[in-house]
Amino acid sequence: MNPAQTNAGDAAGIATTYANQKGGTGKSTAAGNCAASEAADRAEDLGIQPSELEGDTLVIDLDDQCDVTESLGVVPNMDPKVRTPNPREHGIIALMLDEDLDPLDAVKRTKYGVDVIPGHPEMHRLDATLAGELTAHTILATHVDRLRRRYRRILIDCPGSLGIATINGLVASDEVMVPVSPGTLELKGLQRLDTTIKKTGVAFKLPNLKIDFILITDYDRRESIATQTRQRLGEKYPEALLDTVVPRSVRVPEAPGYGEPMCVYDPGGPADTAFREVVKEMRKRRVARG
Ligand SMILES: Nc1ncnc2c1ncn2[C@@H]1O[C@H](COP(=O)(O)OP(=O)(O)OP(=O)(O)O)[C@@H](O)[C@H]1O
Ligand SMILES: [Mg+2]
Repeated sequence: MNPAQTNAGDAAGIATTYANQKGGTGKSTAAGNCAASEAADRAEDLGIQPSELEGDTLVIDLDDQCDVTESLGVVPNMDPKVRTPNPREHGIIALMLDEDLDPLDAVKRTKYGVDVIPGHPEMHRLDATLAGELTAHTILATHVDRLRRRYRRILIDCPGSLGIATINGLVASDEVMVPVSPGTLELKGLQRLDTTIKKTGVAFKLPNLKIDFILITDYDRRESIATQTRQRLGEKYPEALLDTVVPRSVRVPEAPGYGEPMCVYDPGGPADTAFREVVKEMRKRRVARG
């Protein structure tokens, strides 16, 4: 974490980690679409096409499933046996095994104005590979500190577990975004994540590390579980819960198959509209928090 960025309103170089140890809560969907919406807004402000942006928004994929990588149209290297990891070919796994590498070497461009450091299947063995390493939890932070100088926004997509990859994501971040899908076990899971985040903050001397944003995804207001989840999260985490929710849309699960974010796959549709609103609301809240 870069202390200079903390509470710095809408400053550049902000790293946001999308985390929730529960699987399938919409982390990758939110990270990919928020990144594309950030880039689309920025391009609009500058009066250019998103593809003309340079060094604006970066997504770092920490997941061995590589979902966010593929959802942005980047083909990850799926070689399960990496002998000599190199960042150009193997993306995130090479960077996680060597903090002296240049993270910019791992960056792939997309036509959406979003750059991507691709995930890799070998990330599932990261806990075993890095066990006992002194810098096991801070490797990503070292890379992200270099990338902050280059990118206005960095979005880090974590896997659905609380292993070394997620802890790296938390330690590297300026703020934490937790996508939550409606369900009765969500609050319990969130409390566990909250405790882990607090412990991580103490262990790594990051007093500002906390859940900054909670986003309800896959929301269907006709389902009572959805409205109940929203109400309970609002009571328990009033500061963090975003007013904007991402409605359930059949087009959301279709889009990754085409490697397109919602702003391209279904522009003006309910999910695209919601994600554009999410990035605006996050920006407003950052400014309000100072
Ligand atoms: N708003 C939505 N409407 C419909 N389906 C959605 C919505 N948001 C997410 N989904 C679907 O829910 C599933 C899980 O989403 P996603 O992969 O983003 O979750 P995740 O938290 O990243 O999962 P994991 O923990 O496995 O990494 C996907 O099939 C996705 O398409
Ligand atoms: Mg995911």
